[in-house]
Amino acid sequence: MCGIVGYIGSQEASPFLISGLERLEYRGYDSAGIATLKQSDAIRITKVAGRVAQLNSAVEAANPDGKTGIGHTRWATHGAATQVNAHPHIGGSGNISLVHNGVIENFETLKTGLEAKGYRFESQTDSEVVAHLVADSLASAAADRAGETTVEDCIDAVRSTVAQLRGTYGIVVMFRDHPDLLVAARCGSPLVVGVGKGEQFVASDTSPLVGFTERIIYLADHQIAVIRPNNIQVLHRDHGRVRPDIQPLSNQSQDVNLEGYPHYMLKEIFEQPQSIRNALRGRLDKDNATAKFGGLNLTTQQLRGIERIILTGCGTSWHSALVGEYLVEELARIPVEVEYASELRYRNPPVGSDTIVFGITQSGETADTLAALREMKRKGHHTMAICNVIGSSIAQEADGGIYLHAGPEIGVASTKAFTSQLTVLSMLALYFGRLRHLSFEAGQRIIAQLERLPDVVEKTLECHAQVKEIAARYADANNFLYLGRKFNFPTALEGALKLKEISYIHAEGYPAAEMKHGPIALVDEHTPSVFIVPQGTVYDKVISNLQEVKARGGPVLAIVDHEDPHVNKLADDVVQIPEIEDFLQPIVASIPLQLLSYEIALLRGCDVDKPRNLAKSVTVE
Ligand code: AGP
Ligand code: GLU
Repeated sequence: MCGIVGYIGSQEASPFLISGLERLEYRGYDSAGIATLKQSDAIRITKVAGRVAQLNSAVEAANPDGKTGIGHTRWATHGAATQVNAHPHIGGSGNISLVHNGVIENFETLKTGLEAKGYRFESQTDSEVVAHLVADSLASAAADRAGETTVEDCIDAVRSTVAQLRGTYGIVVMFRDHPDLLVAARCGSPLVVGVGKGEQFVASDTSPLVGFTERIIYLADHQIAVIRPNNIQVLHRDHGRVRPDIQPLSNQSQDVNLEGYPHYMLKEIFEQPQSIRNALRGRLDKDNATAKFGGLNLTTQQLRGIERIILTGCGTSWHSALVGEYLVEELARIPVEVEYASELRYRNPPVGSDTIVFGITQSGETADTLAALREMKRKGHHTMAICNVIGSSIAQEADGGIYLHAGPEIGVASTKAFTSQLTVLSMLALYFGRLRHLSFEAGQRIIAQLERLPDVVEKTLECHAQVKEIAARYADANNFLYLGRKFNFPTALEGALKLKEISYIHAEGYPAAEMKHGPIALVDEHTPSVFIVPQGTVYDKVISNLQEVKARGGPVLAIVDHEDPHVNKLADDVVQIPEIEDFLQPIVASIPLQLLSYEIALLRGCDVDKPRNLAKSVTVE
C-alpha cells in the first residue's frame, strides 16, 4: 500500500508533495517523509514516524527547498513504523533517494549481496535494497566515466535494478547529480504521471493531481517513466520506447474535500442517495424491463451461454459478492460461487469454460483480487470488474466491467462503495434474469424498486440522530453479535466488519439461526446483539432467534422496516427503516449499521477515517 508523490518543475516541490500526501494518506499512515533537491546541493530528507500533519510541521520547521522532490506515506510491510524505516530511503552514499510502494520478495538475497559489497543498511525495510541497487549500478557507470554519470546511466540503473526484483513495486527515484530528472517504474503497484507545462507530477493515484493538471498517463506494469520538467518519456523495461497514452483526468477524481463534514466516512455515508443514483443512471431500460451496461464486452449470445458465475473480492467487496450470489441465483437462476480473492488466486477449482468471473473492488488495486482475476484470465475465463476507481489496475486488466461512479471513497471503512456495488449487482441480476426466464412484469417490478432506492436511502439517513443516541448505550461493550438471515446475512457480516475496523470492538456477523450452534455461548448482559429483522419470508424465524438471545439476558438492538409492536416489546432498542423489497434490504439496512459503527467509534475516541493497522487499498498480499 502506501502513497507516493513526486514533483519536478519550476515551483518549490514541498507544497505539492505535502498536499499530495494528505490526499493519499488513506493508503497508509504509519509514517511519512519527503526528499527534496536543488541544483548542486545534497538531497534533503525530512521524515517522521507519524502522520502527514506531523510531517508538515517538520517541513515547515526545516524548510527543505528544492524544485525536485519525492514523498511517501507508508503502510509498513517490512520493519516497524519508525522514523528510520520511513521513506524516502537513501542509496549508496546519498547520490540517489527513492520511495517505494509494494513488497520486494527477494530482498534478503539482494541485501546479502549488497552487504558483501560493503553497503550498510539503516532500515529494516525491503525498500532500502532497491535504493542501494540503483546506487550500486550508478556507481559502476560512474567508475567507467571518471566519476561522471549521464541521464542514460540513471535510466539504465533503474532498468537493471527492476530486472532483479521479485514482487511488486512502484518506485520514484531522484538523483543528486541530475536534479532535472525523476525516474518512475512500476510492477504491480499503481503510478500515474501528471503532465504539466514546465513541470510534471507523479503519484500513486490521481487524487494528488487534481488542481495541478488535467492530463495524465497511467503507467503499465514493466514501464519506466523518465520525467523531466519539459518532457516525459515512457519506456518498456525490456523493449525501449513506448508512445505514452495521455488521458484526461476524470471529473470523478475531483471530489476530494470534506465539504463541512467532520469525517470522510460520515460524508460518504450521507452521499449514498447520490452515489446510488449515479450507479443507476442510464442503466435501467424500462422498454425492455431490464438493465443495460456499456462495457461487458460480450455478445448477447455469449452472455446467454453463461452457466456459472464466480464473484470474488476481499473484505466489504466480498460481502457484496455474497449478496450478489443471493441476487443472481434468485433473479437469474444462474449458479454462483463466491470466493475470497486471496484463496481463489492459489486454489485450482474445477471451472467450466462457460464460467465468467467478476472481481468486485472499490479501489481496483487490491493485490489479491487482481491476482485472482489474472489467474482466471490465464485459464481462459472472461473476467469482469465491478469497480469504482476509473483507470485502476483491475479496471484496465479485466476484459470488461461496470463502473460504480460513486466518486472517491476516502474513509478507510467502505460505505458508499458497498451500497453502489449492491446496486450494480441488483441490476446485473436483473439483466441476466431477463436474458433467461425472468418475465417482463417481474423485470418492471424490480426496476420500480430500484428507482425508489435513492429516495428510500435518503429517508433512511433520518435515523442518524436516533442511532447516535443508541450508540451511547452500547459504546462500552467489548463484544457484539450481528445477526440476519437470507439477504441480510451478508448485511450482518458487513455491520460487524464496520464496527471492528473503526472502533476495535470484537464483533461477529452470523446467519441468525447459526447462532445456536456456537456463538450463543457469547450472549450475556454485556454482549449486545444487533438483529436485522425486516418483513419477509424469514421474519418469523429471525424473531425466534431474537427471543433466544433475550431469554439469555442479551441486550438487543433490532432493525425493523415497519411499526412492529412485537419487536418493540422484545428488543431494548429498535430502529425503523423504510420498507423495500427483500433483495434491496441489505442496501437500506446497512445505513443504520454504518452510522452505529461511526458513532460508537467517535465515542471511543477512535480515528474514524484512519483506523489503526489498516489502509484503504491493500496492494500487498
Ligand atoms: C472495508 O471497510 C475495508 N476497509 C476492506 O475490507 C475493503 O473492502 C477491502 O480491502 C477490499 O478493497 P477493494 O474493494 O478496494 O478491493
Ligand atoms: N515494503 C515497503 C515498506 O515496508 C513499502 C510498503 C508500502 O507499500 O507501503 O516500507
